[in-house]
This record gives sequence, structure tokens and C-alpha cells, in this order.
Amino acid sequence: MPETADPQPSTTPFRWHPPQPVLEIAELVLTGALPVAPAIVEVPDEIADRLAGGETIEIEDAEGTPVAGVTEAVAGGDEGAESLVLPEFTPRRPFAHGPVRAARRSPAQVREALASGPAPGAVLAVPVTDLLTAEQVEEIRRQVQESGAQVLWIAVFGAGRKLPLPADGLWRAVRDLATEPGAQAVPVAVPRLPHTEDASLITSVARGYGATDVLTVPPASPGELHPSFAREYTRAVPPPHRRGVTVFFTGLSGSGKSTVAKALGERLLDRTTRTVSLLDGDEVRRMLSAGLTFSRADRDLNIRRIGFVAAEISRHGGLAICAPIAPFASVRAEVRAEVEQVGDFVLVHISTPLEECERRDRKGLYAKARRGEIPDFTGISSPYDVPADPELRIDTTGISIDAAVDQVWALLTDRGYLTGPEKDR
Ligand code: ADX
Repeated sequence: MPETADPQPSTTPFRWHPPQPVLEIAELVLTGALPVAPAIVEVPDEIADRLAGGETIEIEDAEGTPVAGVTEAVAGGDEGAESLVLPEFTPRRPFAHGPVRAARRSPAQVREALASGPAPGAVLAVPVTDLLTAEQVEEIRRQVQESGAQVLWIAVFGAGRKLPLPADGLWRAVRDLATEPGAQAVPVAVPRLPHTEDASLITSVARGYGATDVLTVPPASPGELHPSFAREYTRAVPPPHRRGVTVFFTGLSGSGKSTVAKALGERLLDRTTRTVSLLDGDEVRRMLSAGLTFSRADRDLNIRRIGFVAAEISRHGGLAICAPIAPFASVRAEVRAEVEQVGDFVLVHISTPLEECERRDRKGLYAKARRGEIPDFTGISSPYDVPADPELRIDTTGISIDAAVDQVWALLTDRGYLTGPEKDR
């Protein structure tokens, strides 16, 4: 390569893949949907330090594409709140992250659509964050009609079905309302930001999109969901026997996790029509996590990988059985949250005490660990956080494998995961 070509800058800018909310805020600020002032973002200390030092950080999306530069608007920030930053963004490339891309029209596009409406002028925003009942929709329509304004329906989507519909479902339902005959309305989808319970943030965004007023959605009253929301809810939350489930076993080495997990898998295949995938600790470490050590960082990575696969299985309505030690509560919680975006999560603590695991010592690892030949051995020289709130706790001391499986089976049956109305013997 000739030396004169493209001189590199003396320092390559620091690149950061931030959590989704930061990308969302950057996009809203850059499109003009959100004024900079409320757009405070939380950043890791390292990033805060770099920004405070006057650096420009390149933020990249999940694909590694740099989408914006960020600097700190007010150097220093609040005393004692080093990780909260008022950012200033510079556009680099178009944003392409997150769900319902096609529905995320910019304020300019929305204003154009509103201006071509039948009665340009007053624009009433209707932010929808939740399922709406037929009665609520009626009340909204009444207020809209009374105002005589054009309507900007805003689907304020969050991630995951627990909140309460996935982005695409909420969007379809809101779009239905905006496009029904006679509605003088424009729909747009915007992400739910941290602190969006704060109505003023929604108001800021609505005004950014050209709204002159924001309707307060009437509180939900008991009653039938509006048909568009009912349809999306049924699609997003199938009945338990068709819903994806992750059964996550955790416990010490030798506690019986793998044995119970395997027997559960076999019984499920034998007696139900569920599809089952087993992600056993030792097996995962031979394949998916080959090469990882037993340091805390590597264990966490191992569990995140298992969680990622389990979430995919659950997303497709399957039943994932995981059986790693998973000694750390924080990453177990992460996996639960990830799976619960798309299905259900059942934590089973195999609570067989250390003395019993060590007495069994089928692999001879405890003896080695006691002799100091295996560093960081869970229960001996590395901690195990006892789960505070497992769905089930089973001590396998003195009970048969079948008896242990019976307990998990009873829980899965109670929750309706195993028997549907017309199938599954
Ligand atoms: S985890 O901590 O990352 O969840 P994982 O379930 O994958 O652990 O692997 C645990 C298995 O690895 C144990 O059953 C045991 O056979 C083996 N092992 C080897 N070294 C260690 C160690 N230092 N701590 C715990 N288990 C170990």
C-alpha cells in the first residue's frame, strides 16, 4: 500500500456498543424527535471518564456499524453521578437497530404525512404503551372527535412481550386504529426509553413529532380488549402448552442436575409432544463453550451462551433444559430476563448439600480440588450463590431420580406446560 494513501488519525477513536436504550436515545435526538435536555444517558465509568476527558466515542450498533459520535455536552457532570452523561451526538450512518424499523418514521416524515392530511393544524398525539380495551378505544375516539384535531397514534414499544406486547404486535394494533376508514390519523412507532413512565418524556417526543397536544389515555377498565389488541395478545402469549419454556437447573457439581435434567428430557419425549433440547453443563463446555476456563468472567460467558440458545429455543415454542452449575445469581437473573422476553423461565435449584456432592464425587474432582489440584472449584475454592427465589428446590440426597423428576413434572403440569386441550397424553 502506498504510504501517502489515507493517512490514519494518530489515535483511533474508542468504539462502544452501548445498551439498546442509548442507541434509541441517540436516534431520537438525531432525528429531532427528542430535545437534548432530557436525553441523559447512563454509561459505564470507563466511558464516563473518557467523555469527561473530552474524547469523542464512536457508538456502534449490534452489527458493529458506527452510527454516531458522542461527546459530553456539559463536561464534568453531576458530582457523585459520574456515569450519568448529557450527551451530544454527531450522525455517522443511518440507524438500523431494533425492532419495527419500517414503522419508525422520522419527525420530518410524520410532519409531511400530517401536512397532507385533510385538516392541517392541531395535532393530538395518542401515546399507546399498553393493551387497550374496546372501551378505552371508544373513549379515545370520542375525545379525538371532540378536539377536531388530526391524530398522531404513537406506539410506544418496549422490548419483550411482558411490556405488554412485543414491538411488532403493539405496532400492528396501533396501525389498525390509525388506518381504519375515516380516521384522520398517522401512526408512528417510537421506543420506550428509560424513565418513560415519566409522562413528560412522552410529551417531549410527541411534540418532537409535531403534536400540539397529548391525549391522556383513559385508565383501563375491566372489559374486553379491543379486537386488534386481543388478536396480537393471543399471538404474543400462546397458551402454556404451546409456549416456549426454559427449565434451568442450577446446583453444585455432583448435585444431580445433569442426571435429573436428562431423565426429565427423556420423560418429556416419551410422554408429551413437546420438542426438547438439553443444554447440559459438561456437554456445553465441550462444544459451545470449548476453551473457556472457570474464572468468573468465563463462567458468566458460558451461562450467557446457554441463555442465548435457551431463549432461541423458547422463542420457537420449544422446551429447553439447561443444567450448568451457574454459580452466580446476577447472570442467572440476566438469563431469566432474556428468556422471559420470549417465553417462560423455571429455575430449579438442585440443593443437594456440598457434603453429599463430595461424598458422591463421581468424577473424583472434589478430591482433586481438596488437594489443590483444581483452582476455583465451586463449593471449595469458588463461591456458589444459593438462589433466593427458585421456582423449585430439590435436595437429591436419598431420593430416586424418578422422584426428583416427579417434582419437576408436577410443577410443569401445574403450570399447564405439558397438557393442551386436545393433545399430549
Ligand atoms: S459453570 O460454573 O460455568 O456453570 P459448568 O456447569 O459449565 O460450570 O461446568 C461444570 C463442570 O465442569 C463440573 O461438573 C465439573 O465436571 C467440571 N469442572 C472442572 N473444573 C471445575 C471448576 N473449577 N469448578 C466447577 N466445575 C469444574
